[in-house]
Amino acid sequence: MLPQAQYNPGSGKKYRKAVTIPSSYKKLFENNRTWVEGKKRGDKDYFSRLSKGQKPEFFLIGCSDSRVSPDLITGADPGVLFIHRNIANLAVHTDLNFLSALQYAVEVLRVKHVVVKGHYYCGGVRAAMADDYYGLIDNWLMNIRDVIRLHEEELNAITDEEQRFRRLVELNVIEQVKNVRGTSVMQKAIRNGTAPQVHGWVYDLHEGLLKDLEVSQ
Ligand code: CO
Repeated sequence: MLPQAQYNPGSGKKYRKAVTIPSSYKKLFENNRTWVEGKKRGDKDYFSRLSKGQKPEFFLIGCSDSRVSPDLITGADPGVLFIHRNIANLAVHTDLNFLSALQYAVEVLRVKHVVVKGHYYCGGVRAAMADDYYGLIDNWLMNIRDVIRLHEEELNAITDEEQRFRRLVELNVIEQVKNVRGTSVMQKAIRNGTAPQVHGWVYDLHEGLLKDLEVSQ
């Protein structure tokens, strides 16, 4: 057990230091108010309608990277994409967070499509390619190192490192598509004839364009 002095979240003022809030932080709230006003100007019932519930058609598994926000790059309005994000857009069979989101998407929301969306220049994939030690995250990146092992021959044949990196991003998406299909949630839905389609996409940060890998199942 940790000593009280080191971990005592309920202890009040003694351990709470006054923080200075920077303008970059305040800006987010200002932007939010501007956004709300804009939406309401276009449609005064916009928020009351959204508050009634969601019926998204897509469940999207994406990377946590700050540059690849799925709704921004697809122009999807709130209510269209149900989203799960983690480092390097992995669908890991032992990840309860991912599995819960998938089950909810498939069995409750009854989405028509599940999309694994990777992106070139992915820091997680790059880290998995390197031989460095990062600590805890290395366990997570082992999932990508498994992809490297599975496709060692193809990857080793690519001499240009940047091209090899790009191909690994694609192969990682393809393997995650297979992982999604292999989950108990999807296997049950397939047996019941209610399974959504599963797709693999790659987003190119450099061009801003989204590419369908055409591995839909
Ligand atoms: Co990434």
